[in-house]
Amino acid sequence: MSDNADHRGGDEQRILVWDFPVRFFHLAFAASFLGAFAIGQWADDHGSLFPVHMLLGGTMVLMVLLRVVWGFVGPRYARFSSFVFGPAEVFSYLRSTMTGGGKRYTGHNPGSSLAIFALLALALGLGVTGAFMAQGGDLMEELHEILAYAMVAVVGVHVAGVLWHTIRHRENLPLSMIDGHKAGKPDGGIRTAHPMLGVLFVALTSLWAYGLARGYNPATNQVTIPILGQTLQLGEDGGHRSRHDDDD
Ligand code: HEM
Ligand code: HEM
Repeated sequence: MSDNADHRGGDEQRILVWDFPVRFFHLAFAASFLGAFAIGQWADDHGSLFPVHMLLGGTMVLMVLLRVVWGFVGPRYARFSSFVFGPAEVFSYLRSTMTGGGKRYTGHNPGSSLAIFALLALALGLGVTGAFMAQGGDLMEELHEILAYAMVAVVGVHVAGVLWHTIRHRENLPLSMIDGHKAGKPDGGIRTAHPMLGVLFVALTSLWAYGLARGYNPATNQVTIPILGQTLQLGEDGGHRSRHDDDD
């Protein structure tokens, strides 16, 4: 259950809440989503930009896996156990955001917690349906599109929620995801931001992206997945295209 509820007293100060892995994850995950969505939505899926769509999506899958590990071993506010809430708490939180008052949370609140788990799951779903589109055919393509728009909707609610909180509580939440600090009880902060593990997150993510890019063959639209060594046919009509391109 949650251990981050905070009944505010008068003794608040700026405390360290978000460690570097969480902040780097947020920045990279959000930027990759926006990039992948924009290319998927507006670029020609046979054009030269489209592999970047698949690369960003494939990199988000690793980011999610790393975030899940961090959700079990990371510090207090990064840990899933600090932001798993029962339905009653979610409901009462959502109602209190409308009516005013209610509890405040140093870490993720029950509203953002819902959005976070949904976003992690949607990104994995997009990775899987994207990767197996050539094999899965129309159904997979349909599903990929539905998940993409569902994710746009959740992101919209997420950003609206952040802005709403920022205005209502006069607390600059977007900045907190950059500098890691929020208002809270003096003894509520985490001790270290884990800068080296933040660097490790960036390094692993970059290496994975590099491996995917290196393993990609534009002539056949196939990718050999780093570490796994598995070769995958990409593209919604990849099977047809590769047969023509096999001779080189
Ligand atoms: C202008 C855009 C955005 C702003 C200002 C923003 C801001 C924030 C803030 C303030 C939090 C912490 C929320 C809390 O207090 O519980 C957060 C968390 C999060 N946001 Fe965003 N966000 C933005 C865009 C996005 C996008 C586009 C995505 C995903 C595609 C995203 C995914 C997440 C996730 C997964 C978390 C949880 C982070 C973690 O615990 O690892 N955000 N965001
Ligand atoms: C979070 C990650 C992703 C997002 C947000 C996303 C989003 C989208 C969107 C919006 C479209 C256009 C849908 C349409 O209008 O038909 C699309 C198409 C496509 N995506 Fe993704 N995608 C992601 C990941 C991936 C991955 C990892 C792959 C492959 C490895 C992939 C492969 C494709 C392909 C082949 C299409 C073309 C399908 C068509 O023509 O309709 N996507 N994606």
